[in-house]
Formats: sequence, C-alpha cells, structure tokens
Amino acid sequence: MCGIVGIVGKGPATPRLVDGLLRLEYRGYDSAGVATLVDGHIERRRAEGRIRNLEALLLEQPLAGSTGIGHTRWATHGAPNENNAHPHATEKVAVVHNGIIENFAELKAELVAKGRKFATDTDTEVVAHLLTVLILEGLSPEAAMAAAMHRLHGAFALAVIVAGRPDLLLAARRGSPLAIGYGEGEMYVGSDALALAPLTKMISYLDDGDWAVLTTDGAQVYDQNDKKVAREVRETVLSGALVGKGNFQHFMQKEIFEQPAVIGDTLRSYVNPATHRVTLPELPADLATLKRVQLVACGTSFYAASVARYWIEQLARLPCDVEIASEFRYRDPVLEEGGLSMFVSQSGETIDTLSALRFARGRGQKIAAIVNVPESSMAREADALLATHAGPEIGVASTKAFTTQLAVLAAFAFAAARARGTQSPERLATLAQAIAGIPEKVSGVLAADDRIRAAAKIVAPARDVLYLGRGTAFPIAMEGALKLKEISYIHAEGYAAGEMKHGPIALIAPDVPVIVLAPNDEWFEKTASNVQEVRARGGQVVLFSDKAGIAKIGNLAVAAIELPSCDPFVAPILYSVPVQLLAYYVALIKGTDIDKPRNLAKSVTVE
Ligand code: M6R
Repeated sequence: MCGIVGIVGKGPATPRLVDGLLRLEYRGYDSAGVATLVDGHIERRRAEGRIRNLEALLLEQPLAGSTGIGHTRWATHGAPNENNAHPHATEKVAVVHNGIIENFAELKAELVAKGRKFATDTDTEVVAHLLTVLILEGLSPEAAMAAAMHRLHGAFALAVIVAGRPDLLLAARRGSPLAIGYGEGEMYVGSDALALAPLTKMISYLDDGDWAVLTTDGAQVYDQNDKKVAREVRETVLSGALVGKGNFQHFMQKEIFEQPAVIGDTLRSYVNPATHRVTLPELPADLATLKRVQLVACGTSFYAASVARYWIEQLARLPCDVEIASEFRYRDPVLEEGGLSMFVSQSGETIDTLSALRFARGRGQKIAAIVNVPESSMAREADALLATHAGPEIGVASTKAFTTQLAVLAAFAFAAARARGTQSPERLATLAQAIAGIPEKVSGVLAADDRIRAAAKIVAPARDVLYLGRGTAFPIAMEGALKLKEISYIHAEGYAAGEMKHGPIALIAPDVPVIVLAPNDEWFEKTASNVQEVRARGGQVVLFSDKAGIAKIGNLAVAAIELPSCDPFVAPILYSVPVQLLAYYVALIKGTDIDKPRNLAKSVTVE
C-alpha cells in the first residue's frame, strides 16, 4: 500500500511533504521518510512507525531543499524498520514506491551481478539501482525512467528525484493510483488528490502505464508506449482541511456517532423525504429485465454486499451473487454478457476490488460502483456511481462507511423491487417509510451507549468470542467479529446461528462470550433456540434484541441490550451500530491503538 508525495518547487519542500504524508497516513503507518535535494545532493530522513516520529526527527535534523519526495509505508517486503523505510536512495536517485515490484528478485540478481550493493530487504530498492545503472550507462534520467518502465513488473506508483537535478521530478503509475498537481511555478505528485489538496486544486490522474516528467513549468506525460499524451486537468472538490476528532476520544467513536447524520445525508440523494420516492442515478442496466447482479467487495464492504444479497433476492426476486474481490477474477467466473456488476468500496481504491472491476469490464459487464471517495479510481471508472455520503472516514475500522453502503444498497433493492413489480404498493410504501426512518432509529440505538459500554467488560477478558445471527443478521455477526478482531486483537468469529451446531458449538464454554444479534424478524424463534443451546452448555450470552425479543429470551443472557423495534428490512443497519460500539469499548478497555490498529491500513492498494 503506502502513500507517496513529491514536489518540484521553489519553496521549502519538507514541511509540505510531511503535511501531504499526514493526509496519506490512512494508507499505512509502519514507517515514514522524506528525501530532498540539498545543494544537488540527495539527503534523507527516515523513521520507524508513525509520521509523528519522522516529525520529531526533522525537528532535531531539519531538511532543506525545494524538490523532494515523501513516503508513508505499509510493509510488504522487509520488516517495518528504519532501514527498510522509503525513500530508497543511491548516489544518483531517491525513490518512493507504492505497490509491489513482482520481478524484484530477478532484477536484484542482475543488478548485484553488475556490482550494485543492496542495503535493504525491500523490493523497491531495485528501482533505485536499476535507474542508477541506466543513468551510469549514459541515459538521461528521463530516458532511464522510460527504460525502467519496460523492465518493472507488478503494480506500482513511483516518484523519483535525481541528484544534481533540482528542476526534475519523475513519476510513474501502473496499477496503483497517482495524481499530478499543478501549482504556480511548482508541480506535485501524490497517491491521491487529498494529499495535494492544500497545495493545489488543479489535478490530473495518470492512466495505467503512464510515466511523467515534472519540472517547475509543468508536466509531460508519456503513455505505456512512451508516446506523449495529455491527461485532463480538472478542479478537485476535495478540501485541504484536516478532519478533527471534535469532542470525541477517537475518530472511530466520532464516526459511529455521526451515523444518523451521514445516513440521512446519503438517503437524501436517493429518497425524496416528502414522497418517499426512491430515485437512483441512471444505471447501465434495466432493473426490470436484468437477469442477475454480482456484488463484489472486500472486508466490511463485502459484509454490506452480503446483507444486500438477502434484500435483493427477497424483495426484488433478482438473482444476486456476492463475491470476495480477491477471489472473484481468479475463479474465472461465468458472467453473462451485458450483465450488471456492482463494486462496493469505501475508498474506491482497494486494489482487489479495482482489479475485479476491470476484470468484469473486460468480460463485458456493465459497472456500477458504490463508493465513498468521490474522485477515487472506482468512482471514475464505473459506468454509474452510487455515492455514499459518509464524509471522510479516518478510523481504520470502517463504521459509518458501512451503514451508508447499506443505506444505498437498501435503496437499490427497493428500486429493483419496484421496477420488477415484486412487491405490493402497500409493502413498498411501508418499506419506503422504514428506509426514511433509519436515521432516527440509529439515534435510538446510540442511546444504548452506556449499556453497551458496560457489556464490553464481559467481552474484554475473553480470548475468543462468537457472534451469531440469522438472515440479514448473519453478515452483521461477521462484521461484528471483524470489528472486534481489528481493534481489540481478540479472536472472534461470526457464524450463521443455525450453523453453530455443525461445529462451533464445540467452542462454547463460560469464558467464550457469545454475542447474539436477534432482531424481531422471521428468524427470531430459531435464533432463540440457538440461544437455549448456548446456555445449555454454559455459554455466556450477550443479547441484542428489541423489547419483545428481550421479554422472550432476555433472561438467558448475562447482558440483554434493548434496541429500538423496527421493520426487519432495516434491522441490519440498526444492529451494525451496537457491534461497532461493543468493539470500540472492548478496545478501549484493552488500551489498543483504536484508530490505527496494528498491521492494518485504511486503504489496501496491494494484492
Ligand atoms: O475501501 P474498501 O471498502 O474497499 O476497503 C475494504 C476493506 O479493506 C475494509 O472494509 C477493511 O476490511 C476495514 N478495515 C474494515 O473495518
């Protein structure tokens, strides 16, 4: 993954590079570094861990120069220590890299045979040595970049500075995104437009295979065949302001509490509050006659898609497949020509999902994207964009992005049902009412905050936790388990409650809390039987249900937390919130780094 930023300019580069890195920290936080040209020589500062460590180092050892590059790392090749931190440098060049150089071992052997000495365990260092050898062989830096592009395999974005050339910044993109920023007498590159937002609003995006020569006067872009090309320069709508935590202790907590507002913002794009009429943007497929839809996503977004499958099939009688993006294209799926594939992603940059999108397009699919970041690669490449309006999500554990994805998918299922005539006008009216009422119901769930905080004390000492749910509560059980794993580092599994007796029941013991999601829906009685089975084996149940559900089985639980009653259709959105809060409060007890949990990154841009 990693975030990269570069400046060829006239003012001091380092503070602006560091500011850009802070905006890219969501892409990784294992180490950070900057390199600039000082009197024509490459100088570097690098630090293990967060960008704040690099900032501390720069206070002790400032770095001058008006041309430079910066990097925040999510380690792929080589331990996350200072030695492996980017930029990687030789006597001639310094390089920052996002992605993976797949043929690095072969290139390294070739470069070592030519006498190059490697200092790190990274794949990136081969790029620095390759460019150096090409320059030492007599190529100009620009020609060396062109030649290197034909030798490197894999997915990458690169930014390069060259010793003795403060007027030059080289950049390249294959697979991983890269934006070019146009300033006044300065030029910039960054992994996304957000990194460049305080520097300029004028942005262009490199296409796959492009490489570029940036000087203080502008940029010349070349395509994969080294032909000069022009890429559209547009004004970004992204704001340069950094998002704050307000009065909350963590971004995750703030984002959980923002949900009534952002679900409301999202629904306003799709549901008319007066008439409750649902309107989608123009789709590249006719919902009335569509034969099948694929939903493809990763992680939390995959669980949103998994809820939507129940909705789409039950309400609209539209066959729906849900696919994990990293498996989808390698499975060589059978896709109907002209079918609709929908890709769900907060960031719009997750490489597994983006690659799946490109694969589906190559197989003749029409593409819709449900994305939170409006200028992301998926948003730009889709035929139709169904935007979520969660606003910037900073906490690595996704919360408000998930419930806003669910809100959009609920609107989609509703629109498909109406187009296909599968629900009566009366049921459609009730559903529209239920969708429009979600923000208020979610506020009602947040009112249970104190009781959920108290229940966290039961879960925090556990080594293993089970989450159970049936129907649309099953993906929420998996999402709840993922949240707990991510931020508290407790092993947790989400199971279909009916599946428990087929194996996981062996795990039931007094020290394995069982979190049961039991909305009052068509599956309630069966879930209640599963709760009995857990109790019969001494399991400790933490129950989430409504008043009626708690009246029926609340006595079987060590903690029974009442949530507002609702139409079962919207229950998965409501029941997402307590599992987020539970994970949050458990992590708070455990004292983990909630907003930046170990080993994770907000946006996963490597396979
Ligand atoms: O940006 P995306 O929605 O495509 O990201 C997909 C997953 O990487 C993401 O949901 C991940 O699982 C989160 N850390 C979940 O909290």
